[in-house]
Amino acid sequence: MLTRLSPQAPDKIIGLMQQFRADPRADKIDLGVGVYRDAAGGTPVMRAVKTAEQRIWQAQATKGYVGIEGDPAFLDAVRTLVLDDAAPPDRVAAVATPGGTGAVRIALDLVRLANPAARVFIPDPSWPNHAAIAGFVGLEQVAYRYYDAAAHALDAAGMLADLERAGPGDVVILHGCCHNPTGADLSPADWADVAAVLQKTGALPLVDLAYLGFGAGVEADAAGLRLLARHLPEMLIAVSGSKNFGLYRERVGAILALAGDAATATLARGNLSNLNRQTYAFPPDHGARVVTDILADPALRADWQTELDAMRTRMEGLRGALSDTLRELSGSDRFGFIAAQKGMFSLIGATPAQVATMRDDHGVYVIGDGRMNVAGLTEAILPRVARAMLAAGL
Ligand code: LMR
Repeated sequence: MLTRLSPQAPDKIIGLMQQFRADPRADKIDLGVGVYRDAAGGTPVMRAVKTAEQRIWQAQATKGYVGIEGDPAFLDAVRTLVLDDAAPPDRVAAVATPGGTGAVRIALDLVRLANPAARVFIPDPSWPNHAAIAGFVGLEQVAYRYYDAAAHALDAAGMLADLERAGPGDVVILHGCCHNPTGADLSPADWADVAAVLQKTGALPLVDLAYLGFGAGVEADAAGLRLLARHLPEMLIAVSGSKNFGLYRERVGAILALAGDAATATLARGNLSNLNRQTYAFPPDHGARVVTDILADPALRADWQTELDAMRTRMEGLRGALSDTLRELSGSDRFGFIAAQKGMFSLIGATPAQVATMRDDHGVYVIGDGRMNVAGLTEAILPRVARAMLAAGL
């Protein structure tokens, strides 16, 4: 049987992680996979996470199974953090998942159960796993215009025109904030325009919320999806705790399904439970418990919020510093967009050959499409990265 398998190429993010690990150069710089780094170049465990873990270690008396849907307290905490009062709780079905990727996978499985003929509208460009998972699940994919590469900005008119082509029974993937890979986000007015198009077409939004708090703060970052929740009968939200709680390896995630009424939410919950059961039985609990405890304790929550805000401010500072250094070195303003964009990533506008030059000649790793993890910079390496970009011909 196993001899029938075909080789599978890793996606461009995983492939680059492998290439980086294999590079023997001591001074190589990893600006590939989306991991936040502090000034010392490390990805520390957040203070509130350490405290919550200590408390859990002391108090936890069992590692017995929690439940097929995950801990209800975790699901309530995530629903409130993400949606606040934008949707009545009885219209929201939720299950815990292994990370945001698990949530995207379960969401698309749910869509396939509801409508195997659904088309999945995916922004061009997007996180590569969106198309990969949709394809694996067996759903047709349609790319919609999202980014004007020449302007380094959202192509709002193109996006809205393409989304008009979706219909009832189709799904539209939207990035809740900190668009991956472009860093170009929807403005509040763009969210209102998207809501109007979705209302008109009847297509179902699937909001991937992997970076809540990394763009403009938790409340501002959630405002767009909350607007959709207030105006649309149904939506799916894939939530990740990897980045904003720094719990990457613990695989904290949840899928929230907003239904038109409580009875449909119950129906959706039963289907989500069943998908959890078939896919991995019980979702992981440790990271979810950490998140629940942080959000439930006012002092821990305040400390988490403070540290998250500091991480965001640091990313904004690095964006400004890279853009300023490039201006000084190149005598041009053409990298100003890096300062204006949001979250971890920007497309620096590099061709594949320029990406290869940065990597091979300067040891600076960015994804093949030119995506740079700005949050992977430090003050110490930033000038070298800027010089490598210009030396590569950017
Ligand atoms: C990324 O885009 O680098 C992160 O979301 C990590 C991943 O799973 O790809």
